[in-house]
Amino acid sequence: MRVDRFLSNLPRYNRQQVRLLLVEKRVRIDGKVVSDPHSEVLEFSCVEVDDEVLQVGKAARYFMLHKPPGCVSATRDPQHPTVLDLIDEPDKDDLHIAGRLDFNTTGLMLITNDGAWSRRLTQPQTKLPKVYYVETEQEIGAQYAITFAEGIYFAFEDLTTQPAQLELLGPRSARLSIVEGRYHQVKRMFGFFNNKVLRLHRESMGLLHLDNALKPGEYRALRTEEIHLF
Ligand code: URA
Repeated sequence: MRVDRFLSNLPRYNRQQVRLLLVEKRVRIDGKVVSDPHSEVLEFSCVEVDDEVLQVGKAARYFMLHKPPGCVSATRDPQHPTVLDLIDEPDKDDLHIAGRLDFNTTGLMLITNDGAWSRRLTQPQTKLPKVYYVETEQEIGAQYAITFAEGIYFAFEDLTTQPAQLELLGPRSARLSIVEGRYHQVKRMFGFFNNKVLRLHRESMGLLHLDNALKPGEYRALRTEEIHLF
């Protein structure tokens, strides 16, 4: 939210007073004086006027989880365990998932309370490459890589998938990099060849790789440099 709106939403200031506060350089966001009314106040920002703290600013939290099979990418589910059940942190209700995985898909999952960060990561314009290890029922033919690179028409959404890179690892295993996150995207891409995906594991999102030290079901906080990859 813009700082002028943030301040004038408080009962104590009207718009004219807010303008003055900014001109007189009495407002600070995260310790820095701001005079531009467009300056952004995030839920994580500390906002001060003179020496009074008007918003303390929540701590932003970021985790990577090694998602095991058999759990739902949701914060709540009436039937099945959810990925949030695996997280033992205070204020879990503030957390959400940045990029879902299917029930039996395993691998890298990011969890945060920072909505702007997760939006940046998941919005289609970002075209963040996501790399999956895939095992299939039938052999993966040479045509697959060509077709995936050209894009596949998804009638339900009436769109053609963005070019994707396929690297064959064995007769029935491959590594696939996609820049979108359509519903069941990888399974539907292999489904184009009537080839069922038996195992699906997300290895990386952008430059962030699943930490090898994490066993299925384990998680850890992201390091500062990992948070700044997005
Ligand atoms: N594509 C799928 O089909 N499933 C996933 O979980 C992720 C990508």
